[in-house]
Amino acid sequence: MNTIEVKILEGVGAEIGGIDLAAGISATQFADIKRVFSDEGLIFFRDQSIDEKQHIAFAEMWGHINVNRFFAAHEDYPQIAMVTKEPDQTGNIGGGWHADHSYDVEPAMGSILVARELPETGGDTFFSNMYKVFDSLSQGLQETLLGLNAVHSAKYAFGSQNTYHKGEVTGARIGNSESADAMPDSIHPAVITHPLSGRKALYVNPGFTRHFEGWSREDSVPILEYLFAIARQEQFITRFHWEPGSIAFWDNRATWHLAQNDYQGQRREMHRITIEGCALT
Ligand code: SIN
Repeated sequence: MNTIEVKILEGVGAEIGGIDLAAGISATQFADIKRVFSDEGLIFFRDQSIDEKQHIAFAEMWGHINVNRFFAAHEDYPQIAMVTKEPDQTGNIGGGWHADHSYDVEPAMGSILVARELPETGGDTFFSNMYKVFDSLSQGLQETLLGLNAVHSAKYAFGSQNTYHKGEVTGARIGNSESADAMPDSIHPAVITHPLSGRKALYVNPGFTRHFEGWSREDSVPILEYLFAIARQEQFITRFHWEPGSIAFWDNRATWHLAQNDYQGQRREMHRITIEGCALT
């Protein structure tokens, strides 16, 4: 018998109800949530009221917390990265499609994002489903991609060669460009066997993937852009509208996400905890 309510969403993810995270969850409820997370790669909770300590405790049920090198930390809880946009900032964090941490040798499993202050309008987050994107490709392209690795880099998003966030005024990042420049690029299969579900998922993203291993960037970009265009198709996407008490927990190995930057002049503050992952095969 299920101990939670589950509503599967069309593009990607599931909304989980019938649960109060602040009151604590039983081992059976946790196992049920974990099963949905593993199957769907993305879960949402509504109407929750968890404080920072409860946020950390929930995250620790899933694995070790990764302290982000590029985001400002919460002043009392370094485990929490501040995803904030002030009214006078033009850029936001995560305003382009990406999968967090694909530039790491062992990319983070995922992040738990809690809404703390929301704009009156806008600020939705979009997610895309990398299982469905891979499944939608023709057999020939699937087989070609299964034989390829891709090179991922933090340099072009966070380093001095930053092209991804160029021209933005984004006070919420800590401008740790030396650290990004010093990071070696990482290589992962272009299609991974997901460590939780065992399913195949496309694992390239516009934020951090530079080229296929052994291919020039010029040769890689047309194919990458073709894949990116498919992943942006509506049938693979869920648009999440935040309300007070909303929480999203995404798996970086199964989804991409994009934070819509359409609330200029208003403040948005989210608390993000990222959980460590593993090497991908
Ligand atoms: C991110 O972690 O990329 C930001 C997501 C959001 O603010 O909605």
